[in-house]
Amino acid sequence: MSDILLHQESARLTITFNRPDRKNALTHDMYLVLVRALDEACASEDVRVVVIQGHEHIFTAGNDIEDFLAHPPLDEEAPVFRFLTALSTFPKPVVASVCGPAVGIGASMLLHCDLVVAGDNAAFSLPFVNLGLSPEGASSLLLPQLMGYHRACEALLLGDPFMAEAALEVGFVNKVVVPSQANDAAQAWAKRLEAKPMNALIQTKALLKSKQGEACSASMKAEVVLFAQLMSEGASKEAFKAFLEKRKPDFSKF
Ligand code: COA
Repeated sequence: MSDILLHQESARLTITFNRPDRKNALTHDMYLVLVRALDEACASEDVRVVVIQGHEHIFTAGNDIEDFLAHPPLDEEAPVFRFLTALSTFPKPVVASVCGPAVGIGASMLLHCDLVVAGDNAAFSLPFVNLGLSPEGASSLLLPQLMGYHRACEALLLGDPFMAEAALEVGFVNKVVVPSQANDAAQAWAKRLEAKPMNALIQTKALLKSKQGEACSASMKAEVVLFAQLMSEGASKEAFKAFLEKRKPDFSKF
């Protein structure tokens, strides 16, 4: 079974993260599949809406750390950053269904989805600092805009997870349902969207994004440079080593 499932029904393309034994952690190859799927969906008249989902107990644990070390993302051409760019510039509506942990890019990618349904077990975390890294996906711009500077600092400096209800309160997600209903709720929204006039939808989404488009892309570019730099420093090396050795990292020297 593939790690990324693509399922088209009517004009809805559903993308499912499907690597449950690794908590749906995303690899270089999975990002390439995602980029291609989004590019094709963008070009295809048969796709009007995209739905992104994981499983009832896990959305995604973010980047697969072992794979990340094998393929360090060093510039904008890295598949992880190409995926974020493809998602952030995707012109058609994107609906996400998120249950369980959504870690790192699992949370930052949601800033680029248009409607997000969360299971009441959803836990969002952006623990980049805990990994010796910096935010990606324009989360350093969009998160404080969305939830305010101080709450963004809890998420990005402390790396504390926030749960579904807190995410709803700050507008990070649109609604919270029991996990078994999350995918159905996302599909229900996608069905409503696919029945609407496409050009009006696309133009409205473009307008909604127009004010932040350039700032978002500039933020992503700056984040990539810093992220790549921090990937080569001691703190991230220690964090990744500690993860693989299943121990707490020791940042006392960094
Ligand atoms: N990369 C690689 N492997 C990962 C992973 C990741 N991001 N996240 C989880 N896994 C692996 C674990 O190492 C474990 O492997 P094992 O069975 O060989 O021990 C397996 O997936 C199950 O994970 P586990 O931690 O036991 O599940 P959990 O339900 O207790 O916790 C998470 C789930 C997502 C909260 C936790 O796995 C986690 O925090 N993962 C790291 C997330 C992270 O730091 N991502 C950012 C990367 S930039």
